[in-house]
Amino acid sequence: MNHFSDYEQRLKQQLKALDVRQPSIREVHRSWALFQKLSQLIERSANQEVEFTEWLEHILYHPDLGYYTAQKSVIGEKGDFITAPEISHLFADSLSHWLQSKLALVDGVLVEFGAGNGTLATQLLQRLDGHVTRYYIVEISESLKRLQHENLAEAGLLNYVTWIDNPKQMPSSAIAIGNEVLDAIPAHRFKRNTNQFYEAKVRQEDGLFKVTWSEDLSNELGLWLQQHSDKFDWADYSQDYIFEASPKRTQWLQQWLSQLEQGYCLFIDYGYSADEFFSPERHTGTYQAFYSHRRHEHLTALPGLQDVTSHVNFSEICATLELGQWQLSGFCSQSELILASGVLNDLVLPKELNARIEMSQAIQKLMLPGEMGETVKAIAFSHNIGQNAPSLIPMQLAKRL
Ligand SMILES: C[S@@+](CC[C@H](N)C(=O)[O-])C[C@H]1O[C@@H](n2cnc3c(N)ncnc32)[C@H](O)[C@@H]1O
Repeated sequence: MNHFSDYEQRLKQQLKALDVRQPSIREVHRSWALFQKLSQLIERSANQEVEFTEWLEHILYHPDLGYYTAQKSVIGEKGDFITAPEISHLFADSLSHWLQSKLALVDGVLVEFGAGNGTLATQLLQRLDGHVTRYYIVEISESLKRLQHENLAEAGLLNYVTWIDNPKQMPSSAIAIGNEVLDAIPAHRFKRNTNQFYEAKVRQEDGLFKVTWSEDLSNELGLWLQQHSDKFDWADYSQDYIFEASPKRTQWLQQWLSQLEQGYCLFIDYGYSADEFFSPERHTGTYQAFYSHRRHEHLTALPGLQDVTSHVNFSEICATLELGQWQLSGFCSQSELILASGVLNDLVLPKELNARIEMSQAIQKLMLPGEMGETVKAIAFSHNIGQNAPSLIPMQLAKRL
């Protein structure tokens, strides 16, 4: 496709088919610029295709044009998807409950990975006043860093916060947390037939990006398959079963967490233990795209305008961290995380009817099994805290790992 007007037309058709809002002309221009860059990248690549995770790195995190990096905020009612801290303060209330007693063990230091709009940082600093001495943020997106800065400044909390970009800047002792950050790091997709693996790549056909299956595996996936050869009985899976593997997530975790000499970490995300993750009902994998709160499966549509994310395999995270001498310190559903914290017992319902309805809807969204209650899970680990240290969060689902 050589002309902006053709591209604009194509984009409009895609959005109409999805029955969602049309983007601003500025957004269309940005998507067009990204489309051209990706087309060049594909043209110059061997076999005219790029590996799916590389393609995702561009559409999500290209420094000037990416989904997370080039826009002010994509999270919340006006954005494309909503996260727990944006739904209700109850999420931060319950995290504060779990973190409070452990902060003294790490000199009051918190690290947050992928802080989005800065809402959780603001709420935790307000609720844990007197317990937090320093709050570090690790954020890949410059535009989100600016927004976090703005929001934390408005709340008068900037004095506590330091943004860090390099694992060498990590404190030696801390509790590190991350809500929906692991699922934002790209995972490989692959299939297998009797003797052959195929990896998802992206090609351009008739002016559209399309997923294609290639026998030519990336080194990263090849290595992952070698390391996991004894963990799968491939005969158990149908020929079309789509697997996901996330060595980028585990490498990223190792890179940052290996700097901590002592502390805890806590990650909350959409995901499953390995048995549930690779179950027959998930034969098409867990990747999904979000645009304007509409969830769909056209992963290669709307470049730079939509989020593309996949669920977390918590067993894989657990195995990696245990190798790095981290000890499991809890694994539970989001509903258990909130219920067991007791914050609902102290909840004072607002007097005004609309506010009450809003509060009850927020609780449902955070806790119902069909919403975020069961699919979103929290996993925690401790490192050099002592063998018999009480766990950070409930162990409700630990046996599943
Ligand atoms: C789905 S959003 C969640 C934001 C926030 N935690 C919340 O709950 O609203 C993912 C966040 O992780 C950030 N992110 C993605 N990859 C990252 C990386 N490799 N390092 C640091 N931040 C990252 C994104 O820019 C964004 O802030």
